[in-house]
Amino acid sequence: MSLAIVILAAGQGTRMRSRLPKVLHPVGGRPMLQHVLDTAHALAPDEIAVVVGHGAQQVQAAIDAPAVHWVVQREQLGTGHAVEQALPVLQAERVLVLYGDVPLVRAELLRPLVDGLAAGEVRLLSVRLADPAGYGRIVRDGEGRVRRIVEHKDASAAERQIREGNTGILAARRADLARWLATLDNDNSQGEFYLTDVIERCIAEGGHVQAVPVDDELAVSGVNDKRQLNVLERAYQARVADRLLADGVTLADRARIDVRGHLETGRDVTIDVNCVFEGSVRLGDDVHIGPNCLLRDVEIGDGVHVHANSVLESSVVEAGCQVGPFARLRPGTRLRRGARVGNFVEIKQGDIGEGSKVNHLSYIGDARLGRDVNIGAGTITCNYDGARKHRTEIGDHAFIGSNTALVAPVRVGTEATIGAGSVITSDTPDGRLTLARARQTTVEHWQRPKKGD
Ligand code: UD1
Ligand code: CA
Repeated sequence: MSLAIVILAAGQGTRMRSRLPKVLHPVGGRPMLQHVLDTAHALAPDEIAVVVGHGAQQVQAAIDAPAVHWVVQREQLGTGHAVEQALPVLQAERVLVLYGDVPLVRAELLRPLVDGLAAGEVRLLSVRLADPAGYGRIVRDGEGRVRRIVEHKDASAAERQIREGNTGILAARRADLARWLATLDNDNSQGEFYLTDVIERCIAEGGHVQAVPVDDELAVSGVNDKRQLNVLERAYQARVADRLLADGVTLADRARIDVRGHLETGRDVTIDVNCVFEGSVRLGDDVHIGPNCLLRDVEIGDGVHVHANSVLESSVVEAGCQVGPFARLRPGTRLRRGARVGNFVEIKQGDIGEGSKVNHLSYIGDARLGRDVNIGAGTITCNYDGARKHRTEIGDHAFIGSNTALVAPVRVGTEATIGAGSVITSDTPDGRLTLARARQTTVEHWQRPKKGD
């Protein structure tokens, strides 16, 4: 039986106090709506419709969802109205309603709502709450059958005592929904067309309503303000940390790691406290990440140690390399096997050859280093002339003395040695010592002036 999923995402989210539409606020580095779409896809539906309103264009531009129907709800007249807007673009027999601001819902909670869903039936997710304030309440009769849902604002004092809240997530046949929604009115305290009123319509027709309670409150929690967003962010991160631990990763503290994207790990990986992983990061076997590191879109080979306080972006670090402490790898960098990049070193678009070392206080930009090159402390590639960037090439086994300025474009020969403090402006030959600095002299017969002379 075919399945359509409708995701409601038209609300403004005033309480977020932000210019960004609510459903674009990130959890784990990705928009909430993107999480909901991933979960929707996990159910393999035939169709997905997303109802947008506030910031519709911004939402559509920011979300990667090629096959969805975008439905614009011009005025937010209520959840029932929102679902009604989506029905004309759908053909599937069953419809499941999800919310763009309920990002942690999981597919396994949703399957029981749609599996074998019959005509004349509504299935919804409910949740038992310590504090149900703000939620619609599930009103059951003496036999425990669901009679209706009453919104908090419309509820009597007695109804407000009910602890079973409506998550808003429900499923029904499309034809049934269409018929029930067409009869809704907005005669309630909020003047809205309530999706929840389909419960009464269903019962009036002699249909069957089933509320499936879920234990995991966070999985069905919506976000209305930054505090709720943060609660779900921490819950999401705890979930990711537990998955990493289950995969055999050693975490110094499961509460002090943030994954904002996708982190793939090999065997015997150790991650110290306060590390942030963004975009797509792959760590090989036996990788150690020291405390306070940021890794964004990087690939780290087997046995690599990234020491404390290093920042690595859009780079590849091959097996056996050492990075940091306090190293910065900027986009386009590749460290080949066994290379070492030490403290206070910045590399941008640098290809650092096998076994080469840049250990202290250097800037290497737009450069290619051969193998087993040694870069002395304080060496700088002067790659920018104020208008254009130029390249530096350094041959295998070259030795660059400390505090050298390599003024690009320039090439240093294979096995060349550069004396410390040189300013190298033209290519240097293979295997020779090149110096480019004032020669040291000692002035004979010089005397220091004395006071009173
Ligand atoms: C809704 C439920 C309530 C439930 C609660 C759970 C109704 C009438 N009430 O209440 O029973 O306990 O969710 O959080 O359904 N939206 C649109 N277009 C609209 C109106 C809403 O897209 O015209 C979207 C909002 O962006 C939001 C979601 O639907 O993501 C829920 O709408 P909201 O008005 O917040 O409903 P609640 O009052 O929270
Ligand atoms: Ca809400």
